[in-house]
Amino acid sequence: MKRLDGKVALISGTARGLGKATAVRFAREGALVVGGDLDHDGALDTMRLIAREGGTALVPCRLDATKEVSVRAWVSEAVDAFGAIDVLCANAGAVRFGSVATQPYADFAATVRAELDSVWLSAQAAWPQLTTTGGCILTLGSTAGLSGSLTSQRSAHTAAKGGVIALARQLAAEGAPHGLRANCISPGLIDTDGSRANLLAADHPMHSINRHIPLGRCGTSEDVTNAAVFLASDEASYITGSNLVVDGGWSAVLPGHAP
Ligand SMILES: NC(=O)c1ccc[n+]([C@@H]2O[C@H](COP(=O)([O-])OP(=O)(O)OC[C@H]3O[C@@H](n4cnc5c(N)ncnc54)[C@H](O)[C@@H]3O)[C@@H](O)[C@H]2O)c1
Repeated sequence: MKRLDGKVALISGTARGLGKATAVRFAREGALVVGGDLDHDGALDTMRLIAREGGTALVPCRLDATKEVSVRAWVSEAVDAFGAIDVLCANAGAVRFGSVATQPYADFAATVRAELDSVWLSAQAAWPQLTTTGGCILTLGSTAGLSGSLTSQRSAHTAAKGGVIALARQLAAEGAPHGLRANCISPGLIDTDGSRANLLAADHPMHSINRHIPLGRCGTSEDVTNAAVFLASDEASYITGSNLVVDGGWSAVLPGHAP
């Protein structure tokens, strides 16, 4: 018996990065995966990859997780195809960095829309199904939602991810009477396509961050999907409202050197 056998799992942002890794891993664990992304071709590639491995996946339409109409169509096509939703992993997000002193308000608003509004919209659209199945919601927060950064100018990202962490707690509160669980995973610095393009780029001041991470390395997609499988599975049936930090101890331990 696999850990997510027969569960219908909606995952946003499956064209690449953590969304793709989660889709592939959930399918390996027996889930019926519904993916979606702004990059529709990329999401279809992930779907084909899962099919080649013998898993089940569907990408019903191009998804814009910031648009209510698009999210509702995505959820409704998933229900038409599989009849239920057991897991929602609201993973899609896009960040615009910038100093609070100079960042245009439009960039702040676009980041909050992409990282926070998208989570709320997909949770609301899937709510009737999730409260029927007693399912679960996973959100992707970040250590950026727990602390400010001297190195990275990211007020919009910090505000949005702080909101994502708080929102998971409220979803847990409103979902509990229906047996619905909601939890957040907050990764630290994870090596993905997205982070390689900015924070882990060779010329970025965060590039050498490894030496400040107590466990001595950046995270991998697998570090995050291990946590996601656990929280989505019945092994976590008594866990709701939590924020599971996956960061090698980065946010818990002050920087410095062992004596
Ligand atoms: N990589 C990290 O270090 C890290 C750390 C903490 C949190 N996170 C969070 O994890 C999630 C995934 O991060 P990642 O590194 O895999 O990012 P990524 O940029 O590699 O991939 C994000 C995917 O989401 C899609 N997407 C973006 N906006 C969308 C929208 N409006 N509708 C549909 N799809 C959309 C993109 O096309 C892309 O395929 C994000 O929420 C991110 O904030 C990542």
